[in-house]
Amino acid sequence: MPIEIAPSILNADFSNLELVIKQLEQSGVKYLHLDIMDGHFVPNLTFGPPVVKSLRSKTKLIFDVHLMVEKPELLIEPFVDAGADFITVHWESTKHPHRLLQKIRSFEKKTGLALNPATLPDNLEYLMELLDLILIMSVNPGFGGQSFIPSQINKIKKVREMIDRANRKIFLGVDGGINLQTARNVVAAGADFLVAGSFIFNGDIVKNYQELLVICSK
Ligand code: DX5
Ligand code: ZN
Repeated sequence: MPIEIAPSILNADFSNLELVIKQLEQSGVKYLHLDIMDGHFVPNLTFGPPVVKSLRSKTKLIFDVHLMVEKPELLIEPFVDAGADFITVHWESTKHPHRLLQKIRSFEKKTGLALNPATLPDNLEYLMELLDLILIMSVNPGFGGQSFIPSQINKIKKVREMIDRANRKIFLGVDGGINLQTARNVVAAGADFLVAGSFIFNGDIVKNYQELLVICSK
């Protein structure tokens, strides 16, 4: 099973994102994880559709847009127009996750659903046919550079079983606190899509990405 690694640019140099993207492309990256924070759903602010749109004109990387916002319903179309490929919304951010995923699909975009660390995975059972990515948050969303929460390993194993039982092609993603050791652990638990921010952007981007890739393919 090939493992995908999606670098999160949250910890990158925001003053030179074009260069960051070029470095990631040279490393062989396929996915770019874009963390959208609104200062309400999470206590931090990042960027919105205009920034994603201008990055879109610079690269063909697959854009995985992670919406950590209240009222995500209002932002689906703007991010579709900005060039998102995957749109990942939080279970906790909406009363109507099923409808929201249908809306993303109606634009022929890939869907993702993120679960905060204390959220049970049971309801996923009723959403499987609408999902392309399940994103297990292994930190509380809002900031890069936090430590991996070990209890999430159990959740990853449970969700792996659910996906296998459903027999569907759904990525099992993990977001937060990924380094060489936690990467090994989450892959062993069944994850196949790893979001990594500070590990990749602390030091030599190409070297860090390659190291992570090697660990994941062992
Ligand atoms: C956290 C974000 C993550 C974050 C990951 O709220 O969703 O994507 O950037 O950063 P690290 O890898 O540093 O935990
Ligand atoms: Zn994220």
